Amino acid sequence: MALDLRGRIAFPLLATRPLFRRNDVLSNYRVAIVGGDGIGPEVIAEGLKVIEAAGIGLETTEYDLGGSRYLQDGMVLTEDILDEWRSFDAIYLGAVGTPGVPPGVIERGLLLKMRFDLDLYVNQRPFKLDGSHDFIVVRENTEGAYAGEGGFLRKGTPYEIATQGSVNTRMGAERAIRYGFELAKTRNNHLTLVHKTNVLTFSGDLWERAFNEVAEEYPEVETAYNHVDAACIYFVQDPQRYDVVVTDNLFGDILTDLGGAVSGGIGLAASANLNPSRTGPSMFEPVHGSAPDIAGQQKANPIAAILSGAMMLDFLGEQNAAAKITAACDACLDVTGSTSEIGDAVAAKL
Ligand code: IPM
Ligand code: MN
Repeated sequence: MALDLRGRIAFPLLATRPLFRRNDVLSNYRVAIVGGDGIGPEVIAEGLKVIEAAGIGLETTEYDLGGSRYLQDGMVLTEDILDEWRSFDAIYLGAVGTPGVPPGVIERGLLLKMRFDLDLYVNQRPFKLDGSHDFIVVRENTEGAYAGEGGFLRKGTPYEIATQGSVNTRMGAERAIRYGFELAKTRNNHLTLVHKTNVLTFSGDLWERAFNEVAEEYPEVETAYNHVDAACIYFVQDPQRYDVVVTDNLFGDILTDLGGAVSGGIGLAASANLNPSRTGPSMFEPVHGSAPDIAGQQKANPIAAILSGAMMLDFLGEQNAAAKITAACDACLDVTGSTSEIGDAVAAKL
């Protein structure tokens, strides 16, 4: 028994506990969890395990959404759930997509609806190459060919017409571009615009003008431009030329799968769907899909999901924990084993 200076019984544990409690509360974030389909729930479980091991308290609420939920009762996402999410600090999502669900139902009804309605206008996807080089793709996340413009005429007849336009607003392009410049400023002051201005002479022109005009506000940032087809070659043969890349939604979708492929595989590629103005939660998810062929077998690599969790912590202001988790993942790239064994190995490095 410990006595204090006046001879009273001292309770060091009781004395210190309120402090720990207060710390817990300070680092408590409200996070909506959407494990989703296929390997999604398995990889998210590992991300949550690692976040806990990093000492960050999350108050999580799970949502059973995705293709399998849709097959059960037809529910994709309601306005009520979206409204509920608006008061959360972040959304942590595994993957969506289930065989048997018509294309677009879950993608448009859940994932794109989240991106659009929560105004997650930047999709930030970092890539690390062997050695020391890394670069980041800033993908515009609310417009372009994803906007849903278009339709059918005379569907099912020999004269059928389908159009699917690309919607580009000056505001939408400019805010993604501006984010790219700001990000470049925190790194190596180099930003590349990727588009296809030689063919897409309307949308490409809008993007190029917005890029050049915003560039004048950032004289310290060196700029470059690549057509998207050429960028595909450079991603494979000369990715060192990139620091930050900014591009439209569809080009960004395709380029970031390529980015994953040239930087250790899609199993490592993380992403952050950001609302940089922080008027609501941002959403964090691995780039990969639900991989139904290996679902439930503990075969998926959880590193992309764990790194997406680190991006979430970073955005929430927990830079230290985020950096520690990222370093732990880097140290575990050669670890083989089940999904949960890889998660355990990363957690053990913290
Ligand atoms: C991605 C995915 C999604 C996209 C799909 C699932 C709708 O491929 O996040 O890259 O095309 O944006
Ligand atoms: Mn994609």
